[in-house]
Amino acid sequence: MKIIQVGLGGMGNAWLNAARHLPEIEYAGFVEINETIARAQAERYGLDASLIFHTLDEALAAVQTDGVLDITPPQFHRSIALTALEHGIPVLSEKPLADTLDAGREIVAAANRTGVLHMVAQNRRYSVPAQTLKRVLASGEMGQVASVSVEFFRGPHFGGFRDQMPYPLIIDMAIHHFDMMRFFLDSDPVATAGRSWNPPWSWYRGDASAAVLLEFASGAVVSYSGSWCSRGVETSWNAHWRFECEFGAVVMHNDQVFIGRNDEARSLTAARETDASMLVPPVIMTYTDQTYLLREFYQAVTSGSVPATICQDNLKSLAVVFDAVRAFESGTTVRSESAVP
Ligand SMILES: NC(=O)c1ccc[n+]([C@@H]2O[C@H](COP(=O)([O-])OP(=O)(O)OC[C@H]3O[C@@H](n4cnc5c(N)ncnc54)[C@H](O)[C@@H]3O)[C@@H](O)[C@H]2O)c1
Repeated sequence: MKIIQVGLGGMGNAWLNAARHLPEIEYAGFVEINETIARAQAERYGLDASLIFHTLDEALAAVQTDGVLDITPPQFHRSIALTALEHGIPVLSEKPLADTLDAGREIVAAANRTGVLHMVAQNRRYSVPAQTLKRVLASGEMGQVASVSVEFFRGPHFGGFRDQMPYPLIIDMAIHHFDMMRFFLDSDPVATAGRSWNPPWSWYRGDASAAVLLEFASGAVVSYSGSWCSRGVETSWNAHWRFECEFGAVVMHNDQVFIGRNDEARSLTAARETDASMLVPPVIMTYTDQTYLLREFYQAVTSGSVPATICQDNLKSLAVVFDAVRAFESGTTVRSESAVP
C-alpha cells in the first residue's frame, strides 16, 4: 500500500519509524510546508527529496497513493482531510480529529458523503498497559465500575503550536484520556462539569491545568485532574487510573496494572484487604501504538475492515473535549454533545 505522509515534524518521526517496520507500507511521497524541516528529514531518513511536496494537492497530482497520513497540527486536519476525502483517498489522521467540534463534524460529513475511510490515531488505546487494563475490565471479574479517577501531570516544553492554542491540555492531550475513558468503560458521557486554569508559572498561553467531572451513561462517574505544566513527580503519558469496582479496585500506575479484591465481609477487627494488590501480567501484542494503527489502516483499506477509531466514532471523543470547554466557559454542568442523537 502506498501512502503520502503530510507533516514531517516532531510526531512525523514516530510514523516514519513505524512505516519502516511494516513491509506492507511504502511511501509514495511526502508533504511539508517548512523547507528546513523537509531538507533535514530527507537527509535523516534518506527520503527522495523530489517526492517532498509543498501541498497535498501538488502531491496528489504528481503521485499515485492509496492513503494519506496527516501528521500536521490540529488546525490543519480539516482541510487536509477534506482534500483527501474529495479525491477518494482514505485518511489516517493524528489526534485530535480537528481543532474545533464544527471542523470535526465537517470531516465526518465528508467521510459519510464520499463513503471514504477516515480514521484517527488514538494510539494510547493500543499500548500494552491500556490493553491489559481493558482486558481486566471487559472480563467482568471485577463487576460493575462505579467511579474512576484519572490523574495526569507532566511538564513538557514543546514550543510551537501547543504554546499558543486555547486549552492545550484538554484539546491536544486529554483527548487521549477522554478517548481512553470511552474505550475502558464502553460508554459515552452524558454530563460534564469542570474548571480550567493556568498556573502562574505556565509557559502556555491557554489554560494548561484542569479538573473535569464526567458522568457516563453506564452510571460511572469519572474525575479527571491534570496539568501540562507540572513541575515534578510526573505521571506516565497514559496517566494514572483507579477504577472503583463492585469486587475491588483496578489501578493503572506507571503503566502497570494492579487489581485488589476484597470478597469477604469486613469486620471491625479485620478492616484490611484480604488480598494484597496483584500485578496483572501484561498482554502480549505483536504491534502497538503507531505500528498497530498503520496496520489497522492497511487492513481497512485492503480488506474493508472497520477500525474502532473511524472518524464517525472518534467525533464522540472530540465532543467530550468540547463539552469540557463549554463547562469551563459556562461554569455549569453541560449535557454532552456526544449524547445528542
Ligand atoms: N499521538 C501522540 O502521542 C502524539 C504526540 C505528539 C503529537 N501528536 C499529534 O501530531 C500532530 C502533529 O504534532 P507535532 O508535534 O508533530 O507538531 P510539529 O509542529 O512538530 O510538526 C508538524 C509538522 O507539520 C508541518 N505542517 C504544518 N502544516 C502543514 C501543511 N498544511 N502541510 C504540510 N505540512 C504541514 C509543519 O511544518 C511541521 O513540520 C498534532 O495533531 C499532534 O496533536 C500526537
